[in-house]
Amino acid sequence: MGGKQKEYLHDVLVIGSGAAGLQLAIELGEAGIHTAVLAKTVVEETNTFYAQGGIAVVLDDEDSFEAHIRDTMEAGAGLCDEKVVRFVVENAPAAIKRLIDYGAQFTRGPNGRFHLTREGGHSARRVLHAADATGKEMECTLLRQVRGLEAVEIFEHHIAIDVIRERLPDGSRGRAVGAYVLDKTRDTVDLFRARVVVLATGGSSKVYLYTSNPDIATGDGVAMGWRAGCRVANMEFEQFHPTCLYHPEAKNFLISEAVRGEGGILKLPNGERFMPKYHPMAELAPRDIVARAIDNEMKRRGLDYVLLDISHKPADFIREHFPTIYKRLKEYGIDMTKEPIPVVPAAHYTCGGVMVDMRAHTDVENLYAIGEVTYTGLHGANRMASNSLLECLVYGDAAAKDIIARIGDIPPPPPLPHWDESQVTDSDEMVVVSHNWDEIRRFMWDYVGIVRTVKRLQRAKHRIDLLRREIDEYYGNFRVTSDLLELRNIAVVADLMIRSAMQRKESRGLHYILDYPEPREEERHPTILTPPGKP
Ligand code: FAD
Ligand code: SIN
Repeated sequence: MGGKQKEYLHDVLVIGSGAAGLQLAIELGEAGIHTAVLAKTVVEETNTFYAQGGIAVVLDDEDSFEAHIRDTMEAGAGLCDEKVVRFVVENAPAAIKRLIDYGAQFTRGPNGRFHLTREGGHSARRVLHAADATGKEMECTLLRQVRGLEAVEIFEHHIAIDVIRERLPDGSRGRAVGAYVLDKTRDTVDLFRARVVVLATGGSSKVYLYTSNPDIATGDGVAMGWRAGCRVANMEFEQFHPTCLYHPEAKNFLISEAVRGEGGILKLPNGERFMPKYHPMAELAPRDIVARAIDNEMKRRGLDYVLLDISHKPADFIREHFPTIYKRLKEYGIDMTKEPIPVVPAAHYTCGGVMVDMRAHTDVENLYAIGEVTYTGLHGANRMASNSLLECLVYGDAAAKDIIARIGDIPPPPPLPHWDESQVTDSDEMVVVSHNWDEIRRFMWDYVGIVRTVKRLQRAKHRIDLLRREIDEYYGNFRVTSDLLELRNIAVVADLMIRSAMQRKESRGLHYILDYPEPREEERHPTILTPPGKP
């Protein structure tokens, strides 16, 4: 290890610098609450930054909250919690107003009003966007705001290892009082003490071999929450985005659903359109249906990809609406104004996560969770497009209000021990880490993917049991590195996904299993896993 271990004390420790973490930090900072925000790498490197399509919000006179609620619940295939859906939908205009007050610029139409695009599952034009780089606009706006606040400190290249809990005499799971954090630049494990800890760590899609997500999305918050004693729900509902670029040199490049929203058509390589035979909404059916249709066509016909074609629209229209996608595709030699784009589905969004209530409380006192790391009840069995950024903003705000109201009554954290390294040595076998990483991501893709079977899930379970034992042993013997920490976390998350998938004996939304091809009324409830140990 490098230098001397440091110790920090804050009122609130926010783990994550995406839309959820930053929205919270702004409101805490404005209230003068001393807040630390951690980012695993640079502060902008988040799923939020790469979001393309937009944020769902009812702004059009023809649209209504009731329609947004209905569409969300239909996309969620019977598993959304209606009061949560209503809470998020009705709080959307206020969330957007805050963003605009911070200075966010969204695309406007020729009449000067916001341009609203369409995406899968939405019955109306409802998706507010900044061309095709909505996430970048949001992340940069929120960051500018945070950087102006004296009470907020940002720690880049700091990876949280575990939440620290203080035991309570009531036999509960205790209360959160801080976290151990690897400072990657100094190579030390530091102690962050805080009255309140918030998981805002984003999703888990890097558990899969092919994903639209950047490398940070390794499910650390789900794993940390689970180890801290939080229940986790609906981890079988991993969302596969239907259209990621298929190109040998492209890593994780999404082709926004808004391309279909603005008229893009899915075709087979022979030019035949196939979506109308799968769903009346065709290319704009909910995402699970489109991804499964593409997967089916690819498997049935032995294809490596299908085509997404918007070249029938005027070139100026395409360049104006999709400047980022247009430019990136040109770099790969594809001109989307003249030719179709080769696409494949890839893991995109984790609908399940750490269970929270509508104040973002987890099962552990003073441990909150917000954003993609959570299960709130909003998405049910399949998230509707552009509801995720919205959930981040609404829950970031809800957590802020709750923390501001409570912080005066929360005692400061007690003195805590530093990270103990006396029993470990430097690893001489880092190859084991990279090998296990690859193995997990590959078998998750092969056995726990878009179409599942009981047998494939059993295969995945055997493998993850073996690997988890190996990884735990390795973790106990060697000094931590960021790769090892992430490996340990993806192994926990993969296990939770497999166990959840094995429990759901039906097909619903994103969980499609050939042994139980239909939904079953008696299975219409969330899959809740409880960590071992005391309640
Ligand atoms: P993120 O934005 O992912 O931020 C996570 C943060 O946690 C990062 O700062 C990371 O460094 C930090 N972190 C993680 N682990 C640790 C750790 N152990 N220690 C310290 N820090 C840690 N949704 C929409 O609603 N509309 C869209 O148009 C849209 N488009 C998308 C396009 C792409 C390509 C992708 C990948 C996703 C898209 N989504 C979209 C989904 C949406 O972007 C995410 O769900 C959302 O941004 C998640 O925000 P978050 O704040 O929860 O986490
Ligand atoms: C997209 O632009 O297709 C992503 C939208 C989303 O994931 O909500």
